[in-house]
Amino acid sequence: MDILEKLNWRYATKEFDASKKLSETQLNLLLEATNLAPSSFGLQPFSIVVVEDNKLREKLKAAAWNQPQITDASQLILFAINTDLSEKHVDDFIARISTTRNIPVESLAEYENMMKGSIKQLPKEELQTWQAKQAYIALGQLMVTAAVEGIDTCPMEGFDKKEFDKILGLEDKKLSSVVIAAVGIRSATDKYQALPKVRKALDELIIKL
Ligand SMILES: Cc1cc2nc3c(=O)[nH]c(=O)nc-3n(C[C@H](O)[C@H](O)[C@H](O)COP(=O)(O)O)c2cc1C
Repeated sequence: MDILEKLNWRYATKEFDASKKLSETQLNLLLEATNLAPSSFGLQPFSIVVVEDNKLREKLKAAAWNQPQITDASQLILFAINTDLSEKHVDDFIARISTTRNIPVESLAEYENMMKGSIKQLPKEELQTWQAKQAYIALGQLMVTAAVEGIDTCPMEGFDKKEFDKILGLEDKKLSSVVIAAVGIRSATDKYQALPKVRKALDELIIKL
């Protein structure tokens, strides 16, 4: 497999073929790969919401500048940060490490205190920005995996986050939406798939010291 060929094949899909759905296996693979993304401390301070319901998606579309990907993609994979990130999340994480790696919780006390200290010391806005960064890393991993698997994606920030939170009932779940990956299969008529990539030359992008 030539990874650069796959990455050139990927493009931000504007027109999905609404008649084509990903199989459950394909969707699960994307979610498993996303779950394997690295995050600061390993804390994964976000949740992932998979939206498939057509009625919900019609409402969401109106809050996303009517972008057709919202209704025509196979699913929307929405990344949302936990607005109540607290010591409880750290405790859950510590318990998960303890169980997974068969390590006593007490021996993780230093790590636990370091994480709790870091979270506490950050003003809310900075904390949420830090959480969002972790979600974007996972988004990147999702999109690369999709490209390798021949699945189309469109990363999307062009939506009213407050409105999405309301429509999806995320506020009650103490979540706040950040970014979406629309996933599915491209339409043969999407003209964007034929356009050459516009990117900096490597010597413009990279400073070698
Ligand atoms: C964080 C992020 C948000 C984006 N939001 C949108 C969006 O709301 N709608 C859209 O059509 N494309 C969106 N894009 C796609 C970009 O416009 C696209 O990735 C860029 O123009 C490069 O083109 P390519 O991905 O096809 O190579 C977004 C991309 C990123 C990374």
